[in-house]
Amino acid sequence: MSQADDHAGTRRDFLYYATAGVGAVVTGAAVWPLINQMNPSADVQALASIFVDIGAVEPGTQLTVKWLGKPVFIRRRTPEEIEAARAVDVTTLPDQLAENANAIEGADASDANRALDETGEWLVMIGVCTHLGCVPLGDAGDFGGWFCPCHGSHYDTAGRVRKGPAPRNLPVPLATFENETTLKLG
Ligand code: FES
Repeated sequence: MSQADDHAGTRRDFLYYATAGVGAVVTGAAVWPLINQMNPSADVQALASIFVDIGAVEPGTQLTVKWLGKPVFIRRRTPEEIEAARAVDVTTLPDQLAENANAIEGADASDANRALDETGEWLVMIGVCTHLGCVPLGDAGDFGGWFCPCHGSHYDTAGRVRKGPAPRNLPVPLATFENETTLKLG
């Protein structure tokens, strides 16, 4: 696994190459084909698990890897980001569902139901805007999370849509910790 240089527009994002020849993703305003928003079937997903080394991800930064043709944001949140996300009243959100493949169906969009671990430090999401498929920018927007420049959707530090035309929160894919420094997607 090697680390590529960062690029304009995502100040603190890191780009890595994931295992198995999966390429890094250039985040930004690139349009992601709509077909990629469809969920892969379970068998495709099982075949396509990847392991990501997250050992070098510092708090307040994120790693973007490409998985099943989509960018996946792996963010290690700061205590402030977690606190901001946990202070939000779920009933005020445009999308009040967790949109988390690891949570039980119908779970609400509370931060605890979105984060991958109990402390809330790790947030893993498919980085495709739920409006028309652009890739949102990290560390941006009115809520300190992600901003989609295509039509102005703002996501908070839990990846929940707060403003703009996006109808749903950024989806959390199947993800588990293999060990302290390795994340398994799928
Ligand atoms: S594609 Fe993100 S706001 Fe339209």
